[in-house]
Amino acid sequence: MKISSAEFVMSNSEVAKCPNEPLPEYAFIGRSNVGKSSLINMLTDRKNLAKTSGRPGKTQLINHFKINNNWFLVDLPGYGYAQVSKKDKKTFQKYITNYFLERQQLVCSFVLIDIRHKPQTIDLEFMQWMGENGIPFSIIFTKADKLRPMAIQRQVADYINYLQKDMWEEAPHYFITSSSKKAGRDEVLAYIDTINLE
Ligand code: GTP
Ligand code: MG
Repeated sequence: MKISSAEFVMSNSEVAKCPNEPLPEYAFIGRSNVGKSSLINMLTDRKNLAKTSGRPGKTQLINHFKINNNWFLVDLPGYGYAQVSKKDKKTFQKYITNYFLERQQLVCSFVLIDIRHKPQTIDLEFMQWMGENGIPFSIIFTKADKLRPMAIQRQVADYINYLQKDMWEEAPHYFITSSSKKAGRDEVLAYIDTINLE
């Protein structure tokens, strides 16, 4: 898919105030610092469309980016960042859960997992919550440039086996990406394209 336009539309904390156009949207969620905003920049081939940072907790609102004038990518705050206050953590959690539960335009979500990590409770609980609430998602493994090819295959196989054994009969669809190396871009965009055409 060719990205001919990508523009920031708005940031906000309330689902009710998100754009009210009936366009399909795709959201990126995962731990703080996993690479959600970087992935949006990689997919759109725009360096600074979404704000990124080496420090976790950068994205703090629901951010809508309009792509090719007919669908949205949505950047969300990360979960699991230990340094934010309890009150802020609760507020973020609320934006996120409300967004997933209430956003009618949401077509598919991507849960991002750092490819270097073994399954972590916070991600597993989040995916479990998505499943229980009937919110479809795919997994995107990020930062694949940090591992050698053999280690990538092993980490992904272990992760997917773990999910199949402990959570679901069928593991979610998944992608392997590196924003710094622009890997996995075509696959994720082709997947979005297929859903858009359905
Ligand atoms: P929050 O907004 O804080 O929730 O974080 P985020 O998930 O949006 O992460 P962000 O995209 O801001 O990236 C966090 C850090 O990881 C930055 O230093 C990025 O440069 C780095 N990063 C993101 N993607 C990759 C990748 O594919 N490879 C490598 N090596 N670093 C990456
Ligand atoms: Mg971010």
